[in-house]
Amino acid sequence: MKVFITSKISSVAKALLVKEGITVKEYPKNKTISRDELINSTKNADGIISLLTEKFDKDLIDKLQNCKVIANYAVGYNNIDVDYAKSKGIVVTNTPDVLTDATAEIAVSLILACSRRIVESDNFMREKKFVGWEPKLFQGIQLTNKTLGIVGAGRIGQATARRMKGFGCKIIYYNKSKKVEFEKELNAKKVTLEKLLKTSDVISIHVPLNKQTKNLLDKEKLDMLKPTAILVNTARGEIVEEKYLIKLLKQNKIFSAGFDVYTNEPNYNKELLKLKNAVLLPHIGSATFETRDSMAKLVAKNVINVLNGKPALTPIT
Ligand code: DGY
Repeated sequence: MKVFITSKISSVAKALLVKEGITVKEYPKNKTISRDELINSTKNADGIISLLTEKFDKDLIDKLQNCKVIANYAVGYNNIDVDYAKSKGIVVTNTPDVLTDATAEIAVSLILACSRRIVESDNFMREKKFVGWEPKLFQGIQLTNKTLGIVGAGRIGQATARRMKGFGCKIIYYNKSKKVEFEKELNAKKVTLEKLLKTSDVISIHVPLNKQTKNLLDKEKLDMLKPTAILVNTARGEIVEEKYLIKLLKQNKIFSAGFDVYTNEPNYNKELLKLKNAVLLPHIGSATFETRDSMAKLVAKNVINVLNGKPALTPIT
């Protein structure tokens, strides 16, 4: 059996696969694999460990001659045409649970960085502009008693809310289904998206990207935000109408926004760089040593199971 890993991920994945007698090939370079290289390297593979940056569309899936499993090294899987892969008998898996805490930590980091203007303040110091304590220097928004609106109360949304409860936030959420345990635990209230956007002081996005959530926060929805709102996105850029959000930020129509994800990555909108009231991260939600090791173990175990004719641990159903 041959497995192709499309990037250099934690070596624990390769070690587990090799232990099972699987031949492993890894993309050797420290850059994103090109489409042509991806096609060439995957066409004969029995299993593939893929990244969210690679598009497994119908065209690529049709070229896979032996593939039984695509194990995506991410919880999000909008880069893969899962239905088509399944129709070809390919199992697609993702990495839920293991990255929940790391991603929630990044959401909280962005919320705090936005509310207390951490990046602006750090830049101010580096530019040697600090000449003494001032009553109004970098005043921000205190989170105590503020309302946090969670858009998508799945694992990561709930973990973010749990952490923000510790800062004294009231929790409201928008989700398809009612989350009874979550409501009990955090006294969280389910509301409509419109109510959430109109009443939240901080909005944190945690829905997966799919046909229903693409542009969920469009121009009309973004206009509902309070002028003091903070919007944080650690899910996928395409959930928000980014150009319009940039316009709102430029006009100071909301307080601040925190981005870990962008529309059309890695070709993000360079207008973002001009915004003082935005905090920009390079899609590092799951980037802790611990989590990336766990993700590597999980993708390897998923591949091993499928290649041994067993059910995957975390299949996308
Ligand atoms: C995911 O797993 O989908 C994240 O975006 C990666 O950090």
